[in-house]
Amino acid sequence: MELLPEIENRQSIRKFTNKTVNKEQLKRIVEAGRRAPSAKNRQPWRFVVITDQELKEKIKVAAFNQEYVSEAGAIIAACSTNIDYRMPNGQLSHPIDISFAMAFMMLQAVHEGLGTCVITTFDEQEVKDMLTVPHSMRVILLLLVGHTAETPFPESRKSFERISVFNHW
Ligand SMILES: Cc1cc2nc3c(=O)[nH]c(=O)nc-3n(C[C@H](O)[C@H](O)[C@H](O)COP(=O)(O)O)c2cc1C
Repeated sequence: MELLPEIENRQSIRKFTNKTVNKEQLKRIVEAGRRAPSAKNRQPWRFVVITDQELKEKIKVAAFNQEYVSEAGAIIAACSTNIDYRMPNGQLSHPIDISFAMAFMMLQAVHEGLGTCVITTFDEQEVKDMLTVPHSMRVILLLLVGHTAETPFPESRKSFERISVFNHW
């Protein structure tokens, strides 16, 4: 089955070279997220792009010292600007909206020839403090972006038949 090459080629990358990520590339990646859909088009997000090495090292510590966190050329902290809105289906919108934006960013990063990894293993309060995120807001995800230094063995997926059906569960 032929898919977009960015989808075919994306894998979580946990080894990065020390090459700097070009600022224009980072801007295009964030722009991809900016164009993502969100519930009622509320766009409840603010993306903090961290390229400063000292700050990346601090984030690494807040991410329980996972080495690859500070080795990535950039870390994009996806923060909420509204945590209250629930959609008519009862779900909170901000984690869903932000996940769409992150997915768009990941695919743009692959298109740019870069590797990414979503990080949720971090102490949110520590990251909030170092990025001066307002008290009432959340840091939902971190996205590592950098020049890839590995080709990981592809993670398996459940079969198409197992995860999808037509018309009835
Ligand atoms: C919501 C979410 C949270 C994740 N959190 C982490 C994390 O904290 N650390 C990490 O190394 N990878 C994390 N990942 C990456 C997953 O482990 C990875 O996507 C999964 O194993 C499938 O591998 P692939 O991305 O290479 O296809 C996360 C992915 C998602 C979507």
